[in-house]
Amino acid sequence: MSDPDSLESFASVVIVAAGRGERFGVASKVLALAGGRSLLGWSLRSATTSSVVRDVIVVAAEQSMSGIRAVVNAGCWKVPVKVVVGGSRRQDSVAAGVAAAPDGCDVILVHDAARPLATPEQFTSCALAALATGAAIVATPVADTLKRVEHDVVQSTVSRAGLWAAQTPQGFQRERLLSALHLTADQHVEYTDEASLMESLGHKVAIVPGSRLNVKVTHPEDLDMVDALLRLWSE
Ligand code: CTP
Ligand code: MG
Repeated sequence: MSDPDSLESFASVVIVAAGRGERFGVASKVLALAGGRSLLGWSLRSATTSSVVRDVIVVAAEQSMSGIRAVVNAGCWKVPVKVVVGGSRRQDSVAAGVAAAPDGCDVILVHDAARPLATPEQFTSCALAALATGAAIVATPVADTLKRVEHDVVQSTVSRAGLWAAQTPQGFQRERLLSALHLTADQHVEYTDEASLMESLGHKVAIVPGSRLNVKVTHPEDLDMVDALLRLWSE
């Protein structure tokens, strides 16, 4: 693989932060504090530190806009960061972010603001893999034994062989992502990641091995876990 330090920066990052935080219980989940800064602040720090990233677009909901702008304006980022308004489904927020990305970027990385432990190296490797293959996601093999359950009773065990948990960043050649968002815009489906949107159109998606630490803050107890991890990280 190419040496990232010898490359011009070629990737724009879209950080999606416009969700409703229903499972967490607060709409402005990405502004929750862990390890001394907001989840969005950590995501911005890693994204802007990757050597291949040329700019970042943060996608925010109208109601959290002032808090999100405050986080963006409070940082001294290595690359330009702008903020745009998102939509009701994830793919609408991604489309709003992609529309604001400069024409000249070769790769767009989509990242959940709610994953504060993604590393700059993961942004770089994902971008390089996307540049080489068209589409690549950071993911980890599933470790738990999986059960299919109905009414609180186990129905069967699902083999975990070949099962991976998708994380972000997820990277795509810009034209490919633009065209996939356009082709699926009228569908009445909500895609929970961009890889599934690509898969639905028959595109191959490569795996970049990630880390089990790159968790997403979804439920309130996840915040305590990432708070502890981020304190260790910043020691
Ligand atoms: N997201 C977004 N726009 C949406 C939906 C989600 O920008 N319409 C973002 C969230 O802000 C989050 C990331 O996508 O950073 C991952 O989504 P998730 O963890 O599901 O967050 P929420 O959608 O906010 O939470 P919930 O599904 O519990 O309402
Ligand atoms: Mg959601």
